Amino acid sequence: MKTLVKNGTILTMETDTPELVQGDLGIDGDAIAFVGKGPSGFSADREIDAAGSIVMPGLINAHTHIAMSLMRHYADDLPFWTWLFDRILPVEENLTDAHVFNGSMLSLVEMIRSGVTSFADMYSNMDAVAEASLQAGLRARLTRGLMFNGPEDLFKLDEGRRFHGDWNGKGDGRIQVDVGPHAIYTCPPEYLEKVVQLAEELDCRIHIHLSESRKEVADSIEAYGKTPIAHAADHRLFSRKTYAAHCVHATDADIQILKDHDVAVINNPASNLKLGNGFAPVVKLLEAGVTVGLGTDGSASNNNLNMFEEVNLAALINKGSTEDPTVVSAYTALQMATINGARALGIDGITGSLRAGKKADLILVDTEVPHFYPRHSVTAGLVYAAQSSDVKTVICNGEPVMQDRVIPHLDEAEVYRKARESAAAITGNAHFMP
Ligand code: NI
Repeated sequence: MKTLVKNGTILTMETDTPELVQGDLGIDGDAIAFVGKGPSGFSADREIDAAGSIVMPGLINAHTHIAMSLMRHYADDLPFWTWLFDRILPVEENLTDAHVFNGSMLSLVEMIRSGVTSFADMYSNMDAVAEASLQAGLRARLTRGLMFNGPEDLFKLDEGRRFHGDWNGKGDGRIQVDVGPHAIYTCPPEYLEKVVQLAEELDCRIHIHLSESRKEVADSIEAYGKTPIAHAADHRLFSRKTYAAHCVHATDADIQILKDHDVAVINNPASNLKLGNGFAPVVKLLEAGVTVGLGTDGSASNNNLNMFEEVNLAALINKGSTEDPTVVSAYTALQMATINGARALGIDGITGSLRAGKKADLILVDTEVPHFYPRHSVTAGLVYAAQSSDVKTVICNGEPVMQDRVIPHLDEAEVYRKARESAAAITGNAHFMP
């Protein structure tokens, strides 16, 4: 199948400064055939009109827990520790594969509608997350979240190994599986060693939460005499390629450790704000040369999966917190949401920018809306004004998963109904509460 995306304003995200190409983008099968002007022999089976649209790489939500949409608007305005241990974890005890599938589907619809083509997820019941991702048609890096409360939890390592065997490479390679120790405060040192051994055995990356809250850092210093990042490094975690969510309270010494070990940081500005955890030192991380991607985190702490909001917050928060409007430019924020997110997840060879040979993961953003006019700047428009509802068409792996705002292969009303049923079953909340 050959597809021609016709007459768009193409933001390639291929270069260090913004590059626009006016014209067409050709897709042959799952890959980009050309950007700009096609060869004379390219005859398309399908045409997508991109006039009035920005064509750009699909966004990469590099840290989330998609099934947590079932707990969206369920536990708000609470301290982080109360939120996690008193509200979220007890409800998660009630999750079944069916609930996780239903929550995942809700999030996949939301991500498609906001222009996401790749995401990284850590959770339990991951077969259900993988199955939903496969059906939705997005690219996913999935990890079975690992927590250790006692020997009865050792089975989770085996489950991680089994999950990798069953799913890694499925969906024409769209599904990749990594190892996901939840955090150092839920994984004691001996368990972390086992996690690293598993990642070595499976030859995969590690996805973890690090230095998310001040309490996590204080507890780590009390228990181990070190910050969570120094502690993780000491336990060889970073001997594997690692993408670490948050790093909100990374010290200057921590940033050096991250840089030395080529650890990528996933910034989650909305979640960090909402849980009162603070602002990650994004400017210092970027200056040090650390790869920084962007994520929404789960929608129980955000409360949405809108990457356009994260891009906007990443730019604004860092300007505000450093009192310097020149830092985190619009283009830098877009790089975090596209090519740098891809780099963090190790998929920059196939996605995150638009060039011939890469997988066709791209979106059309409608600029025929008041907040894009009078059209001075594509990048400023995308970061300071765009809404996720401006996303008109989403193509992942060469296949349109949304076209002119219609998701052809999913029944959205059914997705909402099932998510509502599962949410009621796990929380006991049968009605819309104030
Ligand atoms: Ni998280």
